[in-house]
Amino acid sequence: MELSPFAVRIFNGLLESRTGQQLSENRLWRVESTLQPLMRAYDIDGYDRLATLVAGSRDPILAEAVTEALLNHESFFFRDPPAFGQLVEAIAGRLRDSRQRDRRLRIWCAGCSTGQEPYSLAISFAEKPELWAGWTIDILGTDVSRDAIARARAGVYTQFEIQRGLPVRQMLRWFDSRNEDWHAVADLSRRVKFQVHSLLDIPPSTVPFDVILCRNVLLYFANPVRTAVFERMREAITPDGVLMLGAGETALGQTRRFESDPEIRGFYRPALAQAGARAA
Ligand SMILES: C[S@@+](CC[C@H](N)C(=O)[O-])C[C@H]1O[C@@H](n2cnc3c(N)ncnc32)[C@H](O)[C@@H]1O
Repeated sequence: MELSPFAVRIFNGLLESRTGQQLSENRLWRVESTLQPLMRAYDIDGYDRLATLVAGSRDPILAEAVTEALLNHESFFFRDPPAFGQLVEAIAGRLRDSRQRDRRLRIWCAGCSTGQEPYSLAISFAEKPELWAGWTIDILGTDVSRDAIARARAGVYTQFEIQRGLPVRQMLRWFDSRNEDWHAVADLSRRVKFQVHSLLDIPPSTVPFDVILCRNVLLYFANPVRTAVFERMREAITPDGVLMLGAGETALGQTRRFESDPEIRGFYRPALAQAGARAA
């Protein structure tokens, strides 16, 4: 079964209008493998027929299911370990000093997929009581995908997923093995909140975050959408906050709202507003 240009156009339009994500050429191969189980479940014979049914969201439930199937949820624990470690160190080094009075940190994992990223952060804080005992660390994981957020909230991972990035010691400390799956223990789940939220919408909180992680999400946005998302994230971060992107992503040349953090290499901080400067 081959994807026709008609089907590609419809699927791309559906995904982009709902999430901002584009189906780049090198992601088309995924479409076939992710849509085929759905077509079998709905007894739909062929991509063109499926495309016709979801065009203009004529069948809203099917359109939602196709959108979910087209999203890429690839994630794993402690993804990109050097940068992840650097973030935790940086937070400990800088934000911990400047937040001594309130002893509170607010962290937003935007596009958190099935939860590995916020849980990795929660584990990092919980395992350093000498630094963080007595602090309130709010970690909010958000994603446009209802399926991904439901899975993140459940905190249940297969053997394959749990082994990706999570050392055995931490796996045994923070997850219980039940029926071949691994369930986050209550002491871990209580540390992270999840919410369905699209980066195309206003930020999920009016109180700014000290740290925003937005990793491996911006890659597939068209340039104007990416610029608008940076704009939103700038509204949602404290003036001395830290923005972390994915290993292959940069804010440089994409926005004037963030600039390289001079102290923490590879990270970004909000650019100070310049009087009369046009938003970029
Ligand atoms: C490749 S995963 C990255 C997960 C995690 N940040 C990591 O780096 O391991 C990208 C996630 O971004 C989510 N996403 C895509 N478009 C989004 C949007 N407009 N708003 C929020 N999340 C979005 C997808 O559903 C997916 O779960």
